[in-house]
Amino acid sequence: MIVAGIHTQAFAADLVAGEKISQSCALCHGQFGITSMAGTPSIAGQPEVYLSSQLKQFRDGKRQNAVMNQIAKPLSDADINNVSAWFAQFETELKKR
Ligand code: HEC
Repeated sequence: MIVAGIHTQAFAADLVAGEKISQSCALCHGQFGITSMAGTPSIAGQPEVYLSSQLKQFRDGKRQNAVMNQIAKPLSDADINNVSAWFAQFETELKKR
């Protein structure tokens, strides 16, 4: 298969599928990954490899958090890659103070 186009993803993620999964994350992490919930990190614009590796670690119990361990449990590798690509695509800006 030939994949045309320039992108930084190591695989062809399915953003439509990723957006669907992201709806179950939005309550805590925000629709586009900017949270307004205390104690919950914003995940928008974080590197895709970081997001997917954290999600796999939550799923496999290597990173412990009661909430995220439950949420990541049913996700397949493809689900994780797709939802990571979804949240990674949003740009965020670091502000100096
Ligand atoms: C009920 C609230 C809640 C929901 C729903 C939720 N999360 Fe989380 N998430 C958290 C909290 C709280 C943390 C911080 C965990 C910790 O302190 O280790 C977290 C951490 C994370 C991290 C690690 C971020 C980092 O900077 O290391 C990722 C990635 C993540 N969540 C992705 C998701 C995805 C994807 C979904 C949807 C499939 C989701 N979360 C749904 C509450 C939630």
